[in-house]
Amino acid sequence: MSKVATAEVQTPSISEDLAEIVEGLLLPQKTISPKFFYDDIGSKLFDDICELPEYYPTRTELAIMRDNIDEIVELIGPRASLIEFGSGSSLKTRTLLAHLRELAVYVPVDISREHLQLAASGIKTDFPEIEVLPVAADFTQQFRLPNPKVMPLRNIVYFPGSTIGNFSVDAALELLKVMHHEAGKGGAMLIGVDLQKDVRILEEAYNDAAGVTAEFNLNVLRRINNEFGSDFDLQLFEHRAIYDYAHGRIEMYLDSLCEQTVSLAGETIQFEQGEAILTEHSHKYTMDGFATMAKTAGFEIKKVWVDAERLFSVQYCERS
Ligand code: AVJ
Repeated sequence: MSKVATAEVQTPSISEDLAEIVEGLLLPQKTISPKFFYDDIGSKLFDDICELPEYYPTRTELAIMRDNIDEIVELIGPRASLIEFGSGSSLKTRTLLAHLRELAVYVPVDISREHLQLAASGIKTDFPEIEVLPVAADFTQQFRLPNPKVMPLRNIVYFPGSTIGNFSVDAALELLKVMHHEAGKGGAMLIGVDLQKDVRILEEAYNDAAGVTAEFNLNVLRRINNEFGSDFDLQLFEHRAIYDYAHGRIEMYLDSLCEQTVSLAGETIQFEQGEAILTEHSHKYTMDGFATMAKTAGFEIKKVWVDAERLFSVQYCERS
C-alpha cells in the first residue's frame, strides 16, 4: 500500500486517555467513553457487528447510498473536496469515491493516527487518481484543512455511520457547528442518521443472539487491562443494552455481577452488586428532531433518503 503523509495536529497522549478513563470511573454514574471501544480487537468486533442480522444500520445505510448514488453525486457536483469525519475505510466511502466526478481531494479526519494511516493508504491504493490528504485531529474541535493541488469548488463534509448518535444532543449540535465551519461558504454536509423506530428492532440490534455486541462491550475492559494494567475480571461484568424513550437513545452498560473492587492507576474503584458502567449512548432521531438541530447549526436540509422501512436516513444539508 502507498504511504500517505498525515498532517500533524495534536492528538491525545496515553496518559490523557488514562486520566479520562479514571475520571469517568470515579463519577457517580461510572462511565467509559465509547471512543475507547476501538482497539484492534474492538474494531474487528465492530466489523462483525456490522454483519449481524439484527444490526440493520450499516447494511441499510450502504443500500441507501448505492440506491441513490446518482442523485447524491448530482447534488455534490464536480470537483468537490470530500472531508470525512472519521478515518473512512467503509464501503459507503468507497461507493462515493467511485462515483464522484473529478473529486478535488479526499480528506479523512481521525484522532487515531494509526487508523487514519491505514485507511488512507487503502484508499490511495484503490483510487490512485484521487489526492488523499489525511488530517490527524479531534474533529469535535475546528481544525485546519490541508491545501490540495486542485482548487475545490466546494467542501462536502461526510459523516456516515450515525456516529452522530454517540454524542449528547448538546454535543451533537456543537459538532454540527464544527461541520458547518469546515464546510465553508457554499459547502454542504452528507450525514447518516439513524431513526427512531419500534423498540424491539432497536433493542435486538444491540442485544444480538450471537453475543457479539456483548463481547464488543466487554472488550473495553480487556483493553483497559492490557493498556493500563487494571484488573477488571471480565467474568464479573455483564452486557446490557436498553432503549430509553425519554432521551430517544440506546444505552449500553456493563453491570457488575457482584460487589467488587478494581485497581486502576493507583485508584481503587468500588462496585456494588448490580452497579453499572455506562459505555455508550446511541441516539436515534426523528426527522423533525434532526432537522431542527441541523437548522440551529446553520444548515438547510436539501434532501433526505431513507430505506423502504424508514429504518435509517442519509441527509444532504447545505449551509443556509
Ligand atoms: C458506531 C456509534 C454508530 O451506535 O450503533 C454498535 C456503535 N455499539 N453496536 C452504534 C455500536 C454497539 C454504533 N456506532
